[in-house]
Amino acid sequence: MKILVTGGAGYIGSHTVLLLLTNGFEVVVLDNLMNASIESIRRVEHLTGKKVSFIKGDIQDKTALTSLFNEHAIDAVIHFAALKAVGESSTIPLEYYQNNVHGTLCLLEVMANLNINHFIFSSSATVYGGENAVPYEESMPLGEASSPYGASKVMIERVLKDLAQSNLDFRAVCLRYFNPIGAHESGQIGEDPKGIPNNLLPYVAQVAVGKRERLQVFGDDYSTQDGTCERDYLHVMDLAEGHVAAVNWLQKNSEFTGVEAFNLGTGKAVSVLSIIKAFEQASQQKVPYTIAPRRHGDLPAFWANAEKANKQLGWRATRDLTQMMTDTWRWQSNNPEGYPK
Ligand code: NAD
Ligand code: UFG
Repeated sequence: MKILVTGGAGYIGSHTVLLLLTNGFEVVVLDNLMNASIESIRRVEHLTGKKVSFIKGDIQDKTALTSLFNEHAIDAVIHFAALKAVGESSTIPLEYYQNNVHGTLCLLEVMANLNINHFIFSSSATVYGGENAVPYEESMPLGEASSPYGASKVMIERVLKDLAQSNLDFRAVCLRYFNPIGAHESGQIGEDPKGIPNNLLPYVAQVAVGKRERLQVFGDDYSTQDGTCERDYLHVMDLAEGHVAAVNWLQKNSEFTGVEAFNLGTGKAVSVLSIIKAFEQASQQKVPYTIAPRRHGDLPAFWANAEKANKQLGWRATRDLTQMMTDTWRWQSNNPEGYPK
């Protein structure tokens, strides 16, 4: 099978491409490199001994997409390409809707024209909003997105549903990720955020490696066990395995029509302070921190009910918190400046 991976040079994309290759899939990557380095693809090729067809291009470029699909007989598309900074999305909402929503519409339109009907979408736990009770289950109604980024995910899930209703050949999976962290165990590929990291783990890792002075813990007065926010962190290689499971599921269940959503998480919530402690243990480095005010828009705690993915996809997260921390540290200490610029 040949898979098109949009955004395949990025953090989750590169780990998924690696696993697709080791599972015998052929992979074409389309990425405009706005938030990634081609070095990730080179390293994936080196680690697997396999070749990736890489195309530098934008999902909004329908001409480029059409020639890509004409050149490669694509069986399924895994769609990672998006802008993903929650805070930034409130500052430049139009860019987010343009890139994420319009970009996805372009991709789906070209796919429809060429009768390519298998689609796996990078959705997010953020689609549950703040209204639903935890743990989140797929049967819950989608919530009120708290940011343009979140809204772009909710909109695309809706588009997929409508498209599947209009075309019974179209079959899609929405994978709702919780909090992916960690890196491939080789320490050669990992998360390489541009500028100041928005997310917890890259920030912690940069403090540990001496690139930043101290972490700010956003709020310690939440109604959680230690007062800091709790999240469902999962290893990026477990997440990558979830994508392979989803491709196989679509392939096997040929009678399935429509869109199916799956939570990909561990089912466990871990606090910010517990993350710091686990990281210090795994890395044997100190992570100085100060307690800062709450970050606008943060929910106190959310985690997944991941039973549906387990039952239907045969997927479960198997890597524990120690491994998530050890692998993050291996990547960060081997590549203190990220990929060579
Ligand atoms: P990332 O920024 O590392 O990867 C996204 C990739 O898409 C980048 O390589 C970027 O260059 C590329 N890209 C962006 N816009 C493009 C466009 N118009 N055309 C072509 N390429 C484009 O982010 P990631 O963490 O790997 O996230 C991948 C997906 O997973 C995104 O859709 C994101 O919203 C979703 N997601 C991520 C998280 C997380 O915590 N990392 C959580 C939930 C969902
Ligand atoms: N945090 C800090 N200090 C930091 C960064 C984060 O204390 O410097 C805290 C946050 O307040 C939050 C927790 O660490 O309590 C996790 O924050 P992240 O930014 O790492 O993750 P979020 O849960 O806020 O958001 C992530 C992704 C979103 C996605 C969401 C749900 O960034 O894209 O998970 O999947 F929508």
